Amino acid sequence: MQNFDYMTPTRLVFGENAIEKLHDVMAALGKRVLLTYGGGSIKKIGLYDKVKELLKDFEITELSGIQPNPKYDPSVLDGVRLCKENDIEVILSVGGGSVLDCSKAIAAGAKYDGAPWDLITYKVKAQAALPIVDILTLAATGSEYDCGGVISRTETNDKIGYMDPLLFPVCSFLDPRYTFTVSKKQTAAGCADAMNHIIEQYFCEDSTLLNDGFCEAGLKSLMVNARKCLDNPEDYTARAEMMFACTLGCNGIYSLGNSESGWPCHGMEHALSAYYDITHGEGLAILTPRWMRHILSDHTLGRFVKYGVNVFGIDASLPQYEIAEKAIDATYAFFESIHIPMHLREVGIGEERLDEMAHHIAVNEGLENAYVPLTEKDIKEILVASL
Ligand code: NZQ
Ligand code: ZN
Repeated sequence: MQNFDYMTPTRLVFGENAIEKLHDVMAALGKRVLLTYGGGSIKKIGLYDKVKELLKDFEITELSGIQPNPKYDPSVLDGVRLCKENDIEVILSVGGGSVLDCSKAIAAGAKYDGAPWDLITYKVKAQAALPIVDILTLAATGSEYDCGGVISRTETNDKIGYMDPLLFPVCSFLDPRYTFTVSKKQTAAGCADAMNHIIEQYFCEDSTLLNDGFCEAGLKSLMVNARKCLDNPEDYTARAEMMFACTLGCNGIYSLGNSESGWPCHGMEHALSAYYDITHGEGLAILTPRWMRHILSDHTLGRFVKYGVNVFGIDASLPQYEIAEKAIDATYAFFESIHIPMHLREVGIGEERLDEMAHHIAVNEGLENAYVPLTEKDIKEILVASL
């Protein structure tokens, strides 16, 4: 078991009517608020009006139109400018992971005199950040319980994961009813994203019995509940359990004491969505089984056998390689069964830029240090197999 030093300071307020506590939480942080949101889903579900009503005695400045795969230009830059012009004291992010990630970059940029890109690329370490509160409307990323954000810069095809303990939300409000309207596409993609977060932590060199069980339960919960959410989008219990399993995905709690895996599928997917602006969870679902097949070897076999037997209930008495192959097939079949497109071509990615993307990933993502190290040639092979 590896050493660790762990803290997640974010308060979670979970359940029906959670946001009744919003006013008190915000009042402790300041009066001048930057309200951030996306393309309008929060207005359709009545959440925008509810927030405005709850915070009617606050001074609210708005940044709307934050896109999926949030963009440095204009969203981060506009947000930082608005914070500085209006002397903002606290950011309230209402939406999915993209809105929250963008808000994190804004929170750091607002307290820095130079270009926020310096912080996102770690050229400069942030010294301070505005406090962030969020109301989550989409179960997927776990951004509501971690200190990371992923920001895209279109002109350089960069999509960079930016982490800093300053960026943990102060408080995340999680009312599963706000996820009832999430489309089938985004529900399935959210499930695939959260499953991959767990898989990235499960497939490592050194893990514990405790963490393995926790990860296996997380994966089973996500598969069962995502199906229920797709069948009945207003199934409160299923939306609630899916939301909580997603929330735990990215803050390390699934792998405390495990060795690092390098998160190889995320390293590869970030390039796909940087170059082609695809949905993150779909990119992950496509890559995951191909990456699994690529790394299956005598060395990794034990992990696949445990995964196959404990997550998919594959007969433990079968030959080990047969269990592993069945486990990979079952992973693929699950994603396919929730109607995720399972080929890069189906999400608009052909072979034209695979060499360029493989090179970009090999140079920028550090996957030579992954659980199973990946060279540029390995990455290209995984991308080709995903076509
Ligand atoms: O923009 P609006 O109108 O709000 O619509 C959004 C968007 O079109 C819609 N949506 C959100 N809540 C809804 C809803 N539609 C109906 N009803 C609701 N209640 O869903 C669409 C997708 O939203 P988005 O925020 O992009 O999705 P998600 O939460 O999956 O976030 C994806 C982003 O998070 C990053 C990804 O790379 C991607 O950029 N990630 C962030 C992580 C983190 N901070 O820890 C980790 C992840 O691995 C991931 O990389
Ligand atoms: Zn992810």
